Amino acid sequence: MATKGRTGRRRKRKKNGNYYNEHGRAIYEPEYIALFKWAKENGISFGKLRPACFTQTGRGLMTCKKLRSDDLVISVPSHMLITSKTAEQSHIGKKLAKLKPALSAKNLLYVFILHEKYREKRSFWYPYITTLPRYFNTPAYFSEKEIYALPVSLQQEFMCHILTVQETYKELKEFFARHISALDKNFVEFFTFEEFKWVWCVVNTRSVYKPDITNTDKAGMAATWTDDNYALAPILDLLNHTDVAEVQAGFNQENDCYEIRTLSGYNKSTQVFINYGPHDNRKLLMEYGFILPKNMHNTVPVSKDLVFSLVMPEMRGISQRKRELMSCNQLDKDLCCSEENGLSWSSLVLLRILAMDEDNFKKDWDRVLTGESLGKEVELRVSHWIKCLIERVLQSYQEADKGIAAHLMSHNNLSVNMRLALQLQYQEKQILENALQMVKLS
Ligand SMILES: C[S@@+](CC[C@H](N)C(=O)[O-])C[C@H]1O[C@@H](n2cnc3c(N)ncnc32)[C@H](O)[C@@H]1O
Repeated sequence: MATKGRTGRRRKRKKNGNYYNEHGRAIYEPEYIALFKWAKENGISFGKLRPACFTQTGRGLMTCKKLRSDDLVISVPSHMLITSKTAEQSHIGKKLAKLKPALSAKNLLYVFILHEKYREKRSFWYPYITTLPRYFNTPAYFSEKEIYALPVSLQQEFMCHILTVQETYKELKEFFARHISALDKNFVEFFTFEEFKWVWCVVNTRSVYKPDITNTDKAGMAATWTDDNYALAPILDLLNHTDVAEVQAGFNQENDCYEIRTLSGYNKSTQVFINYGPHDNRKLLMEYGFILPKNMHNTVPVSKDLVFSLVMPEMRGISQRKRELMSCNQLDKDLCCSEENGLSWSSLVLLRILAMDEDNFKKDWDRVLTGESLGKEVELRVSHWIKCLIERVLQSYQEADKGIAAHLMSHNNLSVNMRLALQLQYQEKQILENALQMVKLS
């Protein structure tokens, strides 16, 4: 079973990787001492966790005592979470509430945080805001050159991301321009695109999900993010991610605190991790600005258009029955290659359906969904297509490789973004080469 395999992999990785056993260098700078003092005085409970620097992940939280499974790691009371409600109840929030059209909950949150940053020491949140990162490695901070170093199929997504940030800024600037007489002019001047980009990344890379108990969450519905569910949680948001961390995280309505409990043990002086979700490195880079050196969720997407452009010349069209089966089972989704399994199950089933002749399909259409072998002829055709498909995807990486080599030769000091982009390309190329090897050996 997949879960069994994953647990096994988790244990092995935990044992082997110095990623998990590295001792951190404690941070003693005055801003951090002030932050932890402020947090404690205001009810945040973090036991023996302290800020520290780690070679592989940068700043994170280190435990100064051994942690066992089920230990409560951190607890942040709701009044110490920064949410759109915090923003609404603030002085600027009340002022903005009178202006029309009303700002969305998330836009209000951006404005509130930047306003608190602008207020500097006058803000209650100053100890927190002053220790937030100054810049990020998410798409908004990528230059054009750095975007072109990414895998080709990811470049468009990065550009869309940047456009979203630019459009949101434009929307807010227009709102300010409309209501300039009601606002503090110095704050409006402070609200530059650079500051907005910063706050956008603060909210989107560091928020936890805070359920709105007046809404569906009360009925125990699955968590779906809306503009209203973003919450910044001081101290807790210093916890870094790994794919193998096992934690229980969420809002405890009984004591009104956001809590994190570890389900894995940690040795004294090592970093405590949480799990942001089962994300591959593309998603981690897009949403959080980092990648893992090894990531059990890593995949390389294969475009539906590429699959069809490859198989269609060998076919005389696709029957309505085949189309229906593909669409009912959403076989054109999740087309990708993973490190461990090569081409995904959906991709294989899709290719098998396409490879069957119509008579066999009428007879055996249900067998294809169970993954049974459909005879030598179909399997050979499918293997041939898989090989061609992976080779075609690899081509785009090989073309990029030439550009990368030229870039590496002309630059000794690569930027962090450039390094991330090149590492991602390299990892994805490895996944594809492994998958190709698997097909050749099968
Ligand atoms: C919630 S914050 C965690 C604390 C953060 N490292 C800090 O110094 O404030 C999320 C950010 O931490 C960084 N991060 C989290 N997990 C990481 C990891 N495994 N390796 C490198 N950076 C990581 C990324 O920059 C991400 O956007």
